[in-house]
Amino acid sequence: MAKVLVTHQLPGNRIHELPDHCDMNVWMGPGLLPADGLAEELEDCDGLLCLLTDRVDAALLDANPQLRFISSMSVGVDHIDVSAATARGIPVGNTPGVLVDTTADATFALLLAAARRLVEADRFVRGGHWRVENAWSPEFFTGKDVSGATLGIVGLGEVGQAVARRAAAFGMRVIGWNRSPLQVDGVANRELDDLLAESDFVSINVALGDETRNLIDERRIGLMKEDAVLVNTARGGIVDERALAEALSHGGLAAAGLDVFAREPVAEDHPLLSLPNVITTPHIGSATEATRAKMADMAAGNILAALAGDRMPCCVNPEVYGASSD
Ligand code: DGY
Repeated sequence: MAKVLVTHQLPGNRIHELPDHCDMNVWMGPGLLPADGLAEELEDCDGLLCLLTDRVDAALLDANPQLRFISSMSVGVDHIDVSAATARGIPVGNTPGVLVDTTADATFALLLAAARRLVEADRFVRGGHWRVENAWSPEFFTGKDVSGATLGIVGLGEVGQAVARRAAAFGMRVIGWNRSPLQVDGVANRELDDLLAESDFVSINVALGDETRNLIDERRIGLMKEDAVLVNTARGGIVDERALAEALSHGGLAAAGLDVFAREPVAEDHPLLSLPNVITTPHIGSATEATRAKMADMAAGNILAALAGDRMPCCVNPEVYGASSD
């Protein structure tokens, strides 16, 4: 019987189908499976069902030549060396689609919270600072209007488009940039530099890959308006965090809402965490019970297909199946 390593206990229903089709080994914690644990547990496994916290690099694949398929419970696969997997004929499954609206909601929550300084205001009230001598006045906790502002969306994939729909409902003007030209209703296309210079709010919704790593670098951050707000619910490595912190602390940008960091969990002493104009969340863009269950079901579905000798329904490197397969 084929052996499959599952690196975390998963929600959803389909994971319970796996034991009928394979010898399933689930990492029970505590916490996440560490890198050396992954290397150890993967020995003799034909398949891997992993999370975005599991790094699957060429060295791990070299050490496990028996591995035949990988499914990640995530849409992003930047934690997997997909080229190395493809070179070895290993299909890599992911979970697109089901987290689109949930992630767009989280993006908008961060955008609104950053624009209206909600976290700062909450801390102010709880900290006992809301007193008669420090209360409602014309400039008290003033933020930025969302309605009527221009939102620039970097990456017009499914999440970017869902963010655009929300922005339209809030009365925003929406401009967008995509790596490959794409016409989206209600979104005017711009070159990336022009988008950054023109936007009051910028939302990062592009996948992380070789072409997008450090895409929003110091030069590009410098193009943004001084009162602009940047929101990132995609991946940390897309934005130069040092340059972002610098801009946010010296008046180069008004605020940022960040769900993702280049290294996660983010270090407690990361410069961005000490800034009052930064709102952060711990990579929870897709974190609703319903969405996580759907993602887990898709990830398990990819494994079940691979075990049956079929193509994975959602595969990022379908070329491994060759031209002759269905
Ligand atoms: C993904 O699936 O890649 C998301 O980042 C999870 O929130």
